[in-house]
Amino acid sequence: MLRRILLLTVMANLAAPTPDFAPVIALISHPFNSTHEFIPNSYIKYLEGGGARTVRLPFTASDDEVKRVIDNTNGIFFIGGEPSLPESAIIAYNYITDLQDSGVHYPMWGTCLGFQWLTQLIANDTSVLSLDAFDSEDLLLPLESVKKDSRMFTLNGPDSDYLSIDLPKLFQEHAVTLNMHTDGITPTVAGNIKDYNVLSLNSDRNGIQFVSSFEHGTRPIYGSQFHPEKNGFEYGTDEINEPAEPADHSIHGVRAAFELARFYVQEAVKSGDRYVPDSGVDMIFYSNNGIEKGTNHEETYLWKV
Ligand SMILES: *[C@@H]1O[C@H](CO)[C@@H](O)[C@H](O)[C@H]1NC(C)=O
Ligand SMILES: *[C@@H]1O[C@H](CO)[C@@H](O)[C@H](O)[C@H]1NC(C)=O
Repeated sequence: MLRRILLLTVMANLAAPTPDFAPVIALISHPFNSTHEFIPNSYIKYLEGGGARTVRLPFTASDDEVKRVIDNTNGIFFIGGEPSLPESAIIAYNYITDLQDSGVHYPMWGTCLGFQWLTQLIANDTSVLSLDAFDSEDLLLPLESVKKDSRMFTLNGPDSDYLSIDLPKLFQEHAVTLNMHTDGITPTVAGNIKDYNVLSLNSDRNGIQFVSSFEHGTRPIYGSQFHPEKNGFEYGTDEINEPAEPADHSIHGVRAAFELARFYVQEAVKSGDRYVPDSGVDMIFYSNNGIEKGTNHEETYLWKV
């Protein structure tokens, strides 16, 4: 009898819907100089660490190119950086929200500048971004006022039985989030954006509050003002041998950061197997034109434009 129960348990587990593909996530590359675009390798390794593969969506991609990349990927990731919202991101946002309306669970994530772009896109208003309002470059903080019932900070998905971690507690008890911004979103502005659920708040060095993470109320859209891709990587040092970027590499920092990668990759899994190998959309690993070594970003993938 016991053996039979065991056998049935094993069979039930085998029948559980586990994905047999690694989801593919698109990242928009940013201008590097007049001839090249780039993506810091830490974003790529971070997503790979969560179980995904990555492709590049050019900053200056045409309407057709944006759609071809989205048709062959499971989610999009807007990286941090400098440039203001490009046409390619607007086209992507509109195409993806239509896709979501047709029932495809295609998620979007933004980090730092990408978080700000997504806030502007959701609000359909670039003025929701407060420019030069915060003193929060190179600032490590524990999250404050983390919402308990969010999707982002609640463990779910196929492995939830094996995971026992209180993510809001981890993020609130350890200064593991690296902020590198002077622009940002104030809680007041955020409160007026429809379906924009603030998940945590933080204050800059002068006590000025900014939104540090959000998720959309009805769509799989997520963002963090801080940089989880840096906790596991970016050990570069500057001229006086100080960390070029003071990321927290402790067990708490690395664990918390990779939980967000794992969460986002599981969101991307839900859009199903979409990648077609001969579509002309190539993995970053095979499509780049070399790696540049540096300190802020120890490795940077480059593409000729
Ligand atoms: C841009 O940077 C790449 C990589 O360092 C370099 O090969 C290229 O010559 C640069 N282009 C210009 C116009 O400086
Ligand atoms: C934003 O508003 C403009 C009109 O002001 C509209 O054409 C556009 O589709 C809107 N974009 C989104 C993402 O809703």
